[in-house]
Amino acid sequence: MKIFNSKQAVHNYISELRSKGNTVGFVPTMGALHAGHLSLIEQAKKTADIIVCSIFVNPTQFNDKKDLENYPRPVDDDIKKLEKVNCDILFIPGVDEMYNSSEKWTIELGNLDKILEGKIRPGHYQGVTQIVKKLFDTIKPDFAFFGQKDYQQFMVISHMVKILRIKVKLVLCSIVREKDGLAMSSRNVYLSPVDRINSLALFHALSKFRDLYKIKSVAQLKAEITSFLNSAPGIELEYFEIFNAKSFQPVASKRSGSIIALVAAKVGTIRIIDNMIIEK
Ligand code: PAF
Repeated sequence: MKIFNSKQAVHNYISELRSKGNTVGFVPTMGALHAGHLSLIEQAKKTADIIVCSIFVNPTQFNDKKDLENYPRPVDDDIKKLEKVNCDILFIPGVDEMYNSSEKWTIELGNLDKILEGKIRPGHYQGVTQIVKKLFDTIKPDFAFFGQKDYQQFMVISHMVKILRIKVKLVLCSIVREKDGLAMSSRNVYLSPVDRINSLALFHALSKFRDLYKIKSVAQLKAEITSFLNSAPGIELEYFEIFNAKSFQPVASKRSGSIIALVAAKVGTIRIIDNMIIEK
């Protein structure tokens, strides 16, 4: 695996490969790689000729300084994992390589920035779009792969790609879960043993949603699952919402296409998000 720290160097190297007719698949990450990330690489390998992964803990998408400082950075382990899955190129820049200190720009995200994660983490999606735009400009991928766990992030990036007319095909990859159902996340390592058990309430809530979906109305589903989560031990519910998976608006009835249930909660001190899509 070739490793680059400089934008120009990685750009030149990839341009050379592209000029020989190769397609480029890109997996942007913040490191602390787990099986979920590696499944994105596997998906990329099925789709493109050359696989590029980036590791960059993006400061502009953290609203909490402590969270940024504490974010895990096991770089050597990450490199080993990427080599094992035959990733071709790793781009791992420093902060100064990606940002000017005077830089201030935003992009119009409409309602996407104001609801659910956007509401709870003000500025988070502006930070995500800033870095993803810069990474796309550098790598110029044909395909970019994102995990469904951050579904709202996928909606935000899709919106950006559309309004800025960026030529990339975005691919949404299924959530990878631990054996007991917890969605994989780099932050799961911080759950205490008891919080780790309590965290399963989110997957149980989404499974309940899926099982009851055919026999209950949207209003009943919302009420029953919210109440289940509110009474789950060690869980501080932030939201449980039922949205149209395409328009990303709340739904009132099940008639409107694919449906996604989204949940966020604090388990101890750790925030966890998860979701489940029911295809029409
Ligand atoms: O999903 C993530 O890991 C990050 O938000 C991303 C897309 C790599 C941007 O920093």
